[in-house]
Amino acid sequence: MTYINQLLNHENETVTLKGWVYNSRSSKALHFIELRDGTGLCQCIIALDDVGEELFEAAGTLKQESSVEITGKVVKDERSVGGYELHASDLKVIQVAENYPITPKDHGVEFLMENRHLWLRSQRQWAAMQVRSSIQFAIHKFFREEGFIQMDAPIFTGNAAEGTTTLFETDYFEEKAYLTQSGQLYGEAMAMAHGKIYTFGPTFRAEKSKTRRHLTEFWMIEPEMAFYDLNMNMELAEKMLKYIVNYILEHNQKELDILERDTASLQNAVDKPFKRISYSDAVEQLKSDETTNMLDSMKEEREKELAEIKKELEEIKKEHGSAKKWRKAQIDQRIKEIHARIDQIEEDLRNIPVWKESASNFEWGNDFGGSDETILTMQYDTPVMVHRYPAEVKAFYMKRDPEDEKLALALDVLAPEGYGEIIGGSQREDNLDTLLERIKEHDLPEEVFSWYLDLRKFGSVPHSGYGLGLERTVAWICGLSHVRETIPFPRMMGRLSP
Ligand code: 4AD
Ligand code: MG
Repeated sequence: MTYINQLLNHENETVTLKGWVYNSRSSKALHFIELRDGTGLCQCIIALDDVGEELFEAAGTLKQESSVEITGKVVKDERSVGGYELHASDLKVIQVAENYPITPKDHGVEFLMENRHLWLRSQRQWAAMQVRSSIQFAIHKFFREEGFIQMDAPIFTGNAAEGTTTLFETDYFEEKAYLTQSGQLYGEAMAMAHGKIYTFGPTFRAEKSKTRRHLTEFWMIEPEMAFYDLNMNMELAEKMLKYIVNYILEHNQKELDILERDTASLQNAVDKPFKRISYSDAVEQLKSDETTNMLDSMKEEREKELAEIKKELEEIKKEHGSAKKWRKAQIDQRIKEIHARIDQIEEDLRNIPVWKESASNFEWGNDFGGSDETILTMQYDTPVMVHRYPAEVKAFYMKRDPEDEKLALALDVLAPEGYGEIIGGSQREDNLDTLLERIKEHDLPEEVFSWYLDLRKFGSVPHSGYGLGLERTVAWICGLSHVRETIPFPRMMGRLSP
């Protein structure tokens, strides 16, 4: 058996592909089957003259997603998907599929989510998962090369790390336990044993948010480093993101093409230093005329585009009636794209006034909302690192800025093009008494943190770390508008199956 992504090593040889019918069309003496095998797509040409009547007929009955084995000669063809075709000499049907629910026509997102177990087979979903896997690999590779070891934090925990309002509670042999929100506190203990560690695991948040950035179960990568201050933390975060994006640009061009990802912006993240800005300066920026003007011109651009695209829609709809079959298919595809774009533009147009309002009324001391992050990042062409947030809006464990006690030595990295926060981190409070005070201020139960406080009793050192959200990173790198398409089986409010 040969895999489609290996065909380049088998030019002019006879090989057997095993896979599923992704698409097919027929003429009198030829069937064209687009076969997918998990590694790519390959057009297989089944000619009546080559395979005989019986096999030719069998090939004609294969509906979408039927499973087959096709044997044939590998022929280079630039115009074909993947660059190679298979000229079939033999064919074995494994199973003839029932009517497949996901057809090339436009399906609503809810329908696709209900069929997530099948939707995963579609090209765009396939490409996104390939990129996700590459990102995971690049992260491991980066940390290994930087001298980190991977260590695992527990998933059942007895304490909150990121605020008590977003905990999933479970019954742990009649004791209360929570699903972890972050491996960080354990990461700190492990860093004191191994110096530089990272965790890579699932984390859980029970916030009742139904936004495009929120999952209830997501994967987080959390490096924690002894003897690192906030600046070193920022350096590491930037180096890591550059490494990941560069890795994807080098290894996943094909997938980025399928996703129609504009890679210029990704290349910027590799080539240019990230913009660093303090929270206070970011607030100024939000409230500035520059921001208002940017949103006004964005509104104008969107309205113009909407008018143009609606006109195009009218025209091709007219053309559809008298079009040839192949052209009809093209038009259907374009109509699908136009509808998606219209939805997006209309959403932007609904959002812009809300964003504008939120930005100009923003008060120092508040946390940035999703829309504030969106408009901040739209003003820069690289990821933005916002540092030194008001301590009030950040977690109890963050160290205060010695130069201004109101501020926490916190760091958020906002991905460009409106994606927003992908990393949250900080330098940690390393003084025992101060940390005890913070625990009291935050009304947290001291007992469950006794082990954590020990870390400040036995060789406490300055240390820092951050958490990278995997799904938000995948969304940004793939250019996907919603995190639900960045994980095989998303868990969100109101979605527990499939
Ligand atoms: O900013 P957060 O809450 O930081 C922490 O949990 C720290 N303890 C991390 C650390 O310092 N070790 O979360 C970190 C990242 C966010 O920037 C975001 O990318 C992701 O985790 N994240 C979510 N992703 C999807 N859905 C959610 N509900 C998320 N909440 C956080
Ligand atoms: Mg955060």
